[in-house]
Amino acid sequence: MNKMTIRDIDVAGKRVLVRVDFNVPVDAETGEITDDSRIRAALPTIEYLIGQNARVILMSHLGRPKGKVSDKLRLAPVAKRLSELLGQQVAVTTDCIGPDAEKAAAGLESGRVVLLENLRFHAEEEAGDKAFAGALAKLGDVYVDDAFGTAHRAHASVSVIAEYLPAVAGFLMEKEIATLGNLLENPEHPFTAMFGGAKVSDKSALLKNIMDKVDCVLIGGGMAASFLKAKSYEIGQSLIEEGSVEAAGGIISDTSGGKVRLVLPIDVVVADDIVDSAEAEVVPADSVPLGKKIADIGPQSVIEFGRELKKSKTIFWNGPVGVHEIPKFAGGTKALAEILAGLDATTVIGGGSTAEVIHTMGLTDKVTFVSTGGGASLEFLGGEALPGVVALMDKEA
Ligand code: 3PG
Ligand code: MG
Repeated sequence: MNKMTIRDIDVAGKRVLVRVDFNVPVDAETGEITDDSRIRAALPTIEYLIGQNARVILMSHLGRPKGKVSDKLRLAPVAKRLSELLGQQVAVTTDCIGPDAEKAAAGLESGRVVLLENLRFHAEEEAGDKAFAGALAKLGDVYVDDAFGTAHRAHASVSVIAEYLPAVAGFLMEKEIATLGNLLENPEHPFTAMFGGAKVSDKSALLKNIMDKVDCVLIGGGMAASFLKAKSYEIGQSLIEEGSVEAAGGIISDTSGGKVRLVLPIDVVVADDIVDSAEAEVVPADSVPLGKKIADIGPQSVIEFGRELKKSKTIFWNGPVGVHEIPKFAGGTKALAEILAGLDATTVIGGGSTAEVIHTMGLTDKVTFVSTGGGASLEFLGGEALPGVVALMDKEA
């Protein structure tokens, strides 16, 4: 990465304003954080800054409050978890800008950490408002971006703020870019990319960008229906997005030269409806009964996908191959996660729901890297420049 990092600047005694992505899942009923991996992922940066005697001012969004204060989306549960992990009490300011935040930042001692309240309580954050970015910038002497998961958003605290403060990357940002960048630049072959999830449109740019880099592409999940339909198979009532069959057809013809192997499900789990109470049935992928919907890949597909994974030296996986939230439609996703975790290969997991699967199955330590970015990792691998990365100072500047 040709961007400066916290290693390249002197932070001792300085107010270091760090953008983190603490947008973690919180149980609506209990208010408990159900997956704290994004908080843990930022610890190396925070602990390094503490060790350097910096005054650490963290800022994040949580959810999508759309510019309004929402008590459900306050950062108190995050601060509680962070306090436990750091072994020091981390307070949350009442607002992310203004007198309280300024007082907290000014009065912060070296080696101590404070968290600003949810940035998205202000509509100006997502609007990329300059005055708002300036108000945030007043709180720090330098800016550190460690929020890879939000790097694809040109928001005030992500990219605009770099117009006001010297801006460098944190360790998580550096690691994400190095690991994902290596998939594009120097993957060990055979390189297999496995995709699932609902939409073809989410992955189209990525599929195009990696076509000349991968040896094999495996397609499962809701998006597989578009590929099966593009092959003129009956897909019953399976949901497909507008234009996705054409997009899938394009990818099928891109791979028809035989340089890249495109593997689609050979059997699928179907049901009348994607609900827990529905009756599940396995059918061949080319003959889904008229009234049924595809809910998972079938056992023969798991064997076939597994065979490809086992041959690979590098694997990137984004998107569950079935409806992983419903146990009877989670079988394919779980079986493939287990296979992947047992391989002697470089295994990189895209963020979002795929990361959730790996974390909840306790497989985090058995894969090479789990990205903290869902949308961000897709855009990065799609070859797009991420605003949060572009904004940082270049190494030779
Ligand atoms: C995410 O979880 O995708 C990031 O935190 C960014 O959030 P957003 O998708 O609401 O912009
Ligand atoms: Mg998102």
